[in-house]
Amino acid sequence: MKNIYNNEKRLLHGGDYNPDQWLDYPDILKDDLRLMKLANVNTMTVGIFAWSALEPTEGNYNFEWLDKIIDDVYNQGGRVILATPSGARPAWLSEKYPEVLRTNDRREKMLHGGRHNHCFSSPIYREKTQKMNYKLAERYGNHPALIMWHVSNEYSGDCHCELCQENFRDWLKNKYKTIENVNKAWWGPFWSHTYTDWSQIESPSSIGENAVHGLNLDWKRFVTDQTIDFYENEAKPLRELTPNVPITTNFMADTDDLIPFQSLNYEKFSKHVDILSWDCYPAWHNDWETTKDLATKVGFINDLYRSLKQQPFLIMECTPSGVNWHNVNKAKRPGMHTLASMQLLAHGSDSVLYFQWRKSRGSSEKFHGAVVDHDNSEENRVFKEVSQVGEILDKIKEIKGSMKQSKVAIIYDWENDWALKDAQGFGKESRRYPQTLQSHYKYFWDKNISVDVVTPQQDLSKYSLVVAPMMYMMTEETMDRFRDYVKNGGVLVGSYLSGLVNETDLTYLGGWPKTLQEIYGIDVKEIDTLYPKDRNSIKFGNESFEVVDYCTIIEAKEAEVLAKYEEDFYKNTPAITKNNLEKGKAYFIGARTNQEFLSKFYDKIVKDLDINEVEDFISECGISIQIRENEDAKYYFVMNFTEEEKNIEIKGSYIDLILGKEAEILNIMKPYGVYVLKKNK
Ligand code: GLA
Ligand code: ZN
Repeated sequence: MKNIYNNEKRLLHGGDYNPDQWLDYPDILKDDLRLMKLANVNTMTVGIFAWSALEPTEGNYNFEWLDKIIDDVYNQGGRVILATPSGARPAWLSEKYPEVLRTNDRREKMLHGGRHNHCFSSPIYREKTQKMNYKLAERYGNHPALIMWHVSNEYSGDCHCELCQENFRDWLKNKYKTIENVNKAWWGPFWSHTYTDWSQIESPSSIGENAVHGLNLDWKRFVTDQTIDFYENEAKPLRELTPNVPITTNFMADTDDLIPFQSLNYEKFSKHVDILSWDCYPAWHNDWETTKDLATKVGFINDLYRSLKQQPFLIMECTPSGVNWHNVNKAKRPGMHTLASMQLLAHGSDSVLYFQWRKSRGSSEKFHGAVVDHDNSEENRVFKEVSQVGEILDKIKEIKGSMKQSKVAIIYDWENDWALKDAQGFGKESRRYPQTLQSHYKYFWDKNISVDVVTPQQDLSKYSLVVAPMMYMMTEETMDRFRDYVKNGGVLVGSYLSGLVNETDLTYLGGWPKTLQEIYGIDVKEIDTLYPKDRNSIKFGNESFEVVDYCTIIEAKEAEVLAKYEEDFYKNTPAITKNNLEKGKAYFIGARTNQEFLSKFYDKIVKDLDINEVEDFISECGISIQIRENEDAKYYFVMNFTEEEKNIEIKGSYIDLILGKEAEILNIMKPYGVYVLKKNK
């Protein structure tokens, strides 16, 4: 890690600050500085969408306002994360150079407006953004306030213009070398889809080609590579002129379900950022799930983003209260902002940064939660809670840089997710790959067992247990890695819908792959897809558990059968199996089970592996305990994700960092209550 940010000993607290919207309101800008002190914030992210303020007309730059803001923040002890403004551009740029505008999959040229809508190939946009970034790096690279670069904002989407098509063809040439290889990889003769020339290949389109899965996959891979390439072009001046200032760009999650962001492969992208940061917006207090259930999803996604780089990350954006883009934008109840912030830290964040510092006066985000409301008042409820979070962050700042040490890993694979969503067959609505991972994760969250969510390419050897359900698309390399992991003593859990296609979405021939048969000691004969109202059940021990959606018909070979189906034409055949392979074990879950089953199933595995990280704590359901640690100490975040008081008993002696004294042995935790407890090693 580069040093400028490392030198910063505080947890970052602050967020997106848009003074460029308020340049005509000098009193507000002055007030911002006063309120920043009262809110206990220390870091402002500036310049994100400020291009038209920085370069009002082509080649005429205006940095004076930014100079003043950065100086002012610094002079009162603050730091700055400086953004490059490419996420939105001035009208003059689109007007003069229409090539910078995106073309959609229907080959319609987009108009100027909105944001995040530029072509990633456009040489002119690349030149203009890079030029701007040289200016920023030259002017602010040595400013003592600058601790990090925030390149652009929430990269997403694709462009189907002619420049992008050409780049896609070049990308394919580089990958496949010959058109014959493309035809083989994509199963060309199907529906006469054999290409005879590179020029015939076009990106997928809703009015054109969309049935060739290999093409769809390669397009998504290309879009990730092209986005990263654009980002690298932007980052070049920053790397050149400010090698000690780390670079990030803010990642996202998808939907209210907080599943991993779907349109870019963040595993690849994460290798290009010095520190990973992301924007976390759970729909707290919604009417379809409990606070606790939503909290597990927040845990899952944070564990994934932390594990990508195996280092602490940053929350670049979260809201102090509601957002403006959920279906219903509910305010955070008192205490929730503190609890939600602590949860982010508990899973490895070294910051709580907000969108946004101040609510804007006009346009679409004027009612989005902010530290400072239109009332401009430090007496505001939300403001006060932010200020309180700032106090807590100061008290627990020694956690900065500490990590989680997990013995359990759950595998998530972006390309598998893409391929499985695209597959025709199975159940349209019932695939739910990331949601299935969330339900496995839930078991461990409930038991206060730390989890890393990793990709199949990451090192598995440090984990005692690897959970890898629904690996529909699986390369032979991944199968080999899984086999080696088990042979060397690992415990692996796999499931239905695994090992069906290779990396270009061609099915494996000759039955279920031999390596998987060796790992699990079974052969997969058929996969039965159930209607939503269909039910089957399995007998596990003396208990019967309902299964839905998918039932694998299995022939057990070396494996021991742990559960059998109770209904249908495969009644009494294996549903859950266990195989001993050299020093390790591999379990196979053939059907989609409910949470009660997973709980029984994992209880036994966890007991065998003797994983208990919280033996000093006896806590009620709804309390989550997450641990971070460094060389000197372990930090226990104890969090009540319910609307009720909960009891917790603590054995041993712990320092309560928030209260600054020894923790009590018996505690009643109030709704949304939090402790951060320290134990020296
Ligand atoms: C995203 C963007 C911000 C803002 C927020 C609103 O995360 O990066 O600019 O629009 O959403 O929640
Ligand atoms: Zn384009």
